[in-house]
Amino acid sequence: MKKEYIRKSMWLRKRNIIDCRYGSDIDSKRNLKGGIKMKNKLFLISILVAVFFAASVVVSAAKPIVIKFSHVVAENTPKGQMANKFKALVDERLAGKVEVQVFPNSQLFGDNKVLEAMLLGDVHLAAPALSKFEKYTTKLMLFDLPFLFASMDAVEKYQKGPAGKSLLDSMKKKGLIGLRFLHNGLKQLSANSPLRVPADADGKKFRIMTSDVLAAQFHALNAIPLKKPFSEVFTLLQTKAIDGQENTWSNIYSKKFFEVQPYITETDHGIVDYLVCTSTEFWMGMPADIRAEVEKALNEAVDFGNGVSAKKAVEDRKKIVDSKRTKILTLTDAERQQWIKVMKPVWKKFEKKIGKENIDAAFASN
Ligand code: SIN
Repeated sequence: MKKEYIRKSMWLRKRNIIDCRYGSDIDSKRNLKGGIKMKNKLFLISILVAVFFAASVVVSAAKPIVIKFSHVVAENTPKGQMANKFKALVDERLAGKVEVQVFPNSQLFGDNKVLEAMLLGDVHLAAPALSKFEKYTTKLMLFDLPFLFASMDAVEKYQKGPAGKSLLDSMKKKGLIGLRFLHNGLKQLSANSPLRVPADADGKKFRIMTSDVLAAQFHALNAIPLKKPFSEVFTLLQTKAIDGQENTWSNIYSKKFFEVQPYITETDHGIVDYLVCTSTEFWMGMPADIRAEVEKALNEAVDFGNGVSAKKAVEDRKKIVDSKRTKILTLTDAERQQWIKVMKPVWKKFEKKIGKENIDAAFASN
């Protein structure tokens, strides 16, 4: 009988039916009871652990997803208003699930640092000017070519077409997704002396965004370009460390550049346009239904921001004129042709990097 019992228990143990860790069931009845007690204890512990994890899942599910949106401009600009609109829409539709925190005026990051911060997960949305992506793609250099787009309508037309749309994905390999283009407006040249013809810019120092195309544009004028963050421009102008800068009516007005620049030449020679972007990791990490709602809110906010940009180009120009703090110079056709003649050869220099077909497609949208 005892022999039979041993044989059976060996067979069960081999098949892991009896857990060896709790000793042999042939040792004694007491050991068997101890094993059962231990099993009960473990069962209890595993229930407690399961309850603990379930509770923590509930707590973390209750925590909203935080979207930090960092930008460098004032709140009364197309980008500033777009960001605030996005926050308002998300607050209204995804309360308790998603929380948008907007940081304007370079409070959190300057444009030169924000993309690195995004890849590290310290910020989740930004809309840097297209001139600030050179480290990540050469494709967006297109938008800095002088006199490429005659109007913001042409920019919009190009971006909505297949060539423009494909640019949204130009940094996917680097971990960044372009969600939407956003407009600010056409650029003007401001300076501490009148700039009527290209020769007037000779030897003068101009602040530019971090763009080799913009550097080449000012070299073509025989001027000295300096790549500086947006947050430093006012002080550089005020202290006369630089002579001038290029920007939109909205940025010149909202950052008060017109108060420290006695001349603005209405050149419309380029654009300030943005790419609202995020990191692939953050974006794809959001639950699909939430992501769809966030994207919907973002699209509505960008449409709203583009409407603001069109109005601001007119309104902020008028406010600058009315202030009488600066003189606005409008160019004759002949003067304008001189600027085009000097600056346009920059296209050829960057043709290989940008792609001739892209330049042609963009020009064709005029
Ligand atoms: C911006 O509009 O975001 C900044 C443009 C600039 O750096 O000049």
